[in-house]
Amino acid sequence: MTDSLFSSLSLRGTELSNRIMVSPMCQYSSTDGLANDWHLVHLGSRAVGGASIVMTEATAVSPEGRISPNDLGIWSDEHAEALERTTTFVKSMDSVPAIQLAHAGRKGSKSRPWDGSEPVFPDEGGWNPVAPSDVPWPYEGDAPELHELSTEEVGDVVEEFRVAAERALDAGFEIAEVHAAHGYLLHEFLSPVTNHRDDEYGGSFENRTRIVREATEAVRDVWPDDKPVFVRISATDWLDDRESWDLDQSVRLSAALGELGADLIDVSAGGLHPDQQLPNTGPGYQVPYAELIREETGLRVGAVGGIRTARHADEIVRNGRADLAIVGREHLRDPYFALHAAQELDADAEWPPQYRRAVPRR
Ligand SMILES: Cc1cc2nc3c(=O)[nH]c(=O)nc-3n(C[C@H](O)[C@H](O)[C@H](O)COP(=O)(O)O)c2cc1C
Repeated sequence: MTDSLFSSLSLRGTELSNRIMVSPMCQYSSTDGLANDWHLVHLGSRAVGGASIVMTEATAVSPEGRISPNDLGIWSDEHAEALERTTTFVKSMDSVPAIQLAHAGRKGSKSRPWDGSEPVFPDEGGWNPVAPSDVPWPYEGDAPELHELSTEEVGDVVEEFRVAAERALDAGFEIAEVHAAHGYLLHEFLSPVTNHRDDEYGGSFENRTRIVREATEAVRDVWPDDKPVFVRISATDWLDDRESWDLDQSVRLSAALGELGADLIDVSAGGLHPDQQLPNTGPGYQVPYAELIREETGLRVGAVGGIRTARHADEIVRNGRADLAIVGREHLRDPYFALHAAQELDADAEWPPQYRRAVPRR
């Protein structure tokens, strides 16, 4: 039988009731990295709205792993405790709580978008961002000095991913995603544009991918066998005019991650450099990358980017282009995207009993 948007899916011991995931989306609404009422209501509403997986925003594995001082984090037990209310609620809606574990690298220490995404200096509550090499993001004005990680410090980052995953488990998450996309720290190691190292973390494909493989292995190590691990990658830097990260390397890396026990590759793109040559960002602009990785590796993949309608999401799953339709901005416009999609596609989906009197008749 052909899969559809409302087919179930088993990933290890996790049962998904449909193929819709809420894409990780930064909320820039934390103080000291702690989850609060905003996260409960924001993520909770999308669980009420019927998505089978509700993923947190990029959640920093260390204070300097944040993009802005307002980012969510999970670098202490207190952070894990603050997230527990949200995971408990999401599960009570029969949705699966997932966490994106992240390190911002050279793109860290800037103000939130509605404050201009400007560099924040250490004496203003910011920090010195860390990176594989001394290749700063090309800001127009001054920015805090970048710190190039020593080989030993790279190992420390891998350990931070491991400990963050342990805490995420304590907090009640069922899926852990390693964020290796969008020009943040792990992606900076992958791309020769930002990685000029000459130790075992730079140079060859093997070396540039080492930290992503190690972080995935570390998370997989502490994540129970019956629970899935995802990895989000940027399939390409969109910088074909120079030596950069591209689709061929993404296929090779995905295959390696599959062997290390990654259960799904969440396929995004870009974000490494402002010179990127963005393609037409119309509906499903990144789906072909997911489709290729699925075809070449046989791994499960999630497609993201410009998926706005039920029929489009359904088409992606039905035609075997991806296993999950990952929906970002449309979930901000409509927290009930999945319930509305079920109506449109004439599929079964449970509305919460509190809302049943409002369910439109078929
Ligand atoms: C407000 C906002 C915040 C985002 N934050 C993250 C993030 O924390 N981690 C991530 O991997 N992608 C992040 N993204 C990218 C989205 O997850 C998604 O990949 C992108 O928006 C394309 O999907 P869409 O067209 O469905 O929105 C963010 C996007 C938006 C709009």
